[in-house]
Amino acid sequence: MQTTIASVTFEHPIFNAAGPLCVTTEELNAIGNSSSSAIVTKSCTRTSRDGNPEPRYRGVPLGSINSMGLPNRGYKAYINDTRVLKEHKKPIILSVSGLSLEDNCTIITAANASDADLLELNLSCPNVPGKPQVGYDFEQTDTVLAAVMKIAKKPLGVKLPPYFDFVHFEQVAKILNKHNVAFVTCINSIGNALYIDPVLEEPVIKPKGGFGGLGGQYIKPTALANVRKFSELLDCPVIGVGGIEKGVDVFEFILAGAHAVQLGTVFMEEGVGCFERIRKEFEDYCAKKGYTSVEDFRGKLKTL
Ligand code: SIN
Repeated sequence: MQTTIASVTFEHPIFNAAGPLCVTTEELNAIGNSSSSAIVTKSCTRTSRDGNPEPRYRGVPLGSINSMGLPNRGYKAYINDTRVLKEHKKPIILSVSGLSLEDNCTIITAANASDADLLELNLSCPNVPGKPQVGYDFEQTDTVLAAVMKIAKKPLGVKLPPYFDFVHFEQVAKILNKHNVAFVTCINSIGNALYIDPVLEEPVIKPKGGFGGLGGQYIKPTALANVRKFSELLDCPVIGVGGIEKGVDVFEFILAGAHAVQLGTVFMEEGVGCFERIRKEFEDYCAKKGYTSVEDFRGKLKTL
């Protein structure tokens, strides 16, 4: 069940998403020691950030809502970590989320000399007050990619917000193809959702008046739609993320066209054991179907 993205081979297609439990060196080593097939770092900014005030994450019945606000140790710490994480002998993906184009260029220039295998530029965090999601501004996306692709010496992919309109898919895909991005990860959480506790008559998280990114089961159909559309429109591999909780979910994402998948909410709720459980469930499901490699069914979703 190996898969390849930008010439980097993954032992199987299931690894962590930039988001939960990948901030500290200990957390990253725990991912390295788990059955995750890669190690993705928390999206890093130029300087360290405490993030938004707590409570800023809540598991809710069908998923999660968060407004973490990119708490991270700053890019230099993650670049240093790549040297140590290399010992786990699995691909390392450095997630980058500079708060300006200049910051992104600085981080990517430094990342060229790191031990990361791939760079994932996060254009879609909905949780930094005063910073709109770049992926919803197509002109800015074009400008950012023109600048960073000139600098990046490692394969650089982008993490996108969810889109909901076929015209938007086409417009974004045209930009991504023009800049030859190495891969696309979709989707980030559905931004600015509101979850209300009716007993307490208040939202369940504090930042931004309770507005936050929705993850988990709520968003799986939207994530599948984004994977499907982008895998049809793009010249590069797509990594799916959004609501994967079981092995059969992985199967569905690959059937829709994904080369790999990332785990967010389920990792936060279950811890590193989710990688082995979901991998086993996925392999058992494939075996039942008689499939021995992801190429047997990737993108082969039937139509009615
Ligand atoms: C956050 O730190 O706010 C979540 C990460 C993201 O949405 O990109």
